[in-house]
Amino acid sequence: MILYKNDISKLTDLISAHTKTFILLDENTEKFCLQYFNSIELLKSNTKIVIPSGEQHKTIETVQYIWSKLVDNHADRKSLLINIGGGMVTDIGGFAASCYQRGIDFINVPTTLLGMIDAAVGGKTGIDFQGLKNQIGLFSQPLVVVVLFDFLNTLPQRELLSGLAEIIKYGFIVDKYFLEAKLPINPDFIEKAIAVKDGITRSDTTEQGLRKILNFGHTIGHALETYLIDNQKEIRHGEGVAMGMVSALYLSEKYCGLNHEITRFYKDLYAKNFNRFDLNGIPMDALMEIMRHDKKNEGGDIRFVLIEDYGRPVYDVVVKSEDIVDSINYLVDYQNDANYWGK
Ligand SMILES: NC(=O)c1ccc[n+]([C@@H]2O[C@H](COP(=O)([O-])OP(=O)(O)OC[C@H]3O[C@@H](n4cnc5c(N)ncnc54)[C@H](O)[C@@H]3O)[C@@H](O)[C@H]2O)c1
Repeated sequence: MILYKNDISKLTDLISAHTKTFILLDENTEKFCLQYFNSIELLKSNTKIVIPSGEQHKTIETVQYIWSKLVDNHADRKSLLINIGGGMVTDIGGFAASCYQRGIDFINVPTTLLGMIDAAVGGKTGIDFQGLKNQIGLFSQPLVVVVLFDFLNTLPQRELLSGLAEIIKYGFIVDKYFLEAKLPINPDFIEKAIAVKDGITRSDTTEQGLRKILNFGHTIGHALETYLIDNQKEIRHGEGVAMGMVSALYLSEKYCGLNHEITRFYKDLYAKNFNRFDLNGIPMDALMEIMRHDKKNEGGDIRFVLIEDYGRPVYDVVVKSEDIVDSINYLVDYQNDANYWGK
């Protein structure tokens, strides 16, 4: 269930149905977001668990810290964990709650654009492990997702752009309408994107089929994100996806007969909205090794989500290694192309 600002009073009933409530925050959401709940009396007296922000902390050590706080404060099976944060907090909080005493209820309160339209909805929870993204985790649904647009007021531009990339992704796999999204974001795009994510994930909770389309742009996007984070470079989840979509469109032309005009259109749209990344010298063998661990693979093949046209995604497309390398080189060349970046 998704609750918006007008439904916020329903939170009180949900909280009071539990023995204890714990609030998970990262250092930024404690500072910027917790205050929005001052009016909810039941939340004031509850235990806060504050973790460091950033993907590098989406680890088993942070989960252990959360579990130790739950144990120390006598959380029982009727306790509730409220995750207030971006995708990092909702992913790790959902995972910690779902394992604690074989599962306690949790509520997601996404505070980033990406969290609202993607991470907090659909029940994927997890952590990174041995340098691999979301390698450990489970499907587990939040009791409810609370969406408050006010949180976007303090969100840095780079984080807003990261969320925008995932909204634009829906333009390729679901409806061209989403390709019109830009910053400052119109809340209509957020509500419609949430409805899309909610609808798809309800129809295929454990990603046996249709849900896979949400991974458009993610195979190479995740590999770039993983490699750059491992090498202490700054990258946001959505930035990886935005770049991964350039490669996915290139492959869609080759494997699904996609019209090149669509790739050209996206390269213009990307250059208008997103920042250039310097990918020169990025090692293909390291990216390929990361992709071999992608959870969408089966039987050793690397599988992609590609599109035949706007709104016509195809999943489980086995792509040859040499074509994957070509598609990354295509992306690297694009990032160096003076026609787009004036350099
Ligand atoms: N479960 C899923 O289905 C799913 C889908 C997509 C992405 N994800 C995961 O989501 C994560 C990325 O999420 P994200 O982009 O939200 O990043 P994030 O949670 O790391 O948040 C980004 C930064 O913004 C700060 N922040 C959060 N809310 C703020 C606010 N309102 N004001 C100011 N600062 C704020 C955070 O402290 C952090 O520094 C990744 O781990 C990714 O794997 C999960």
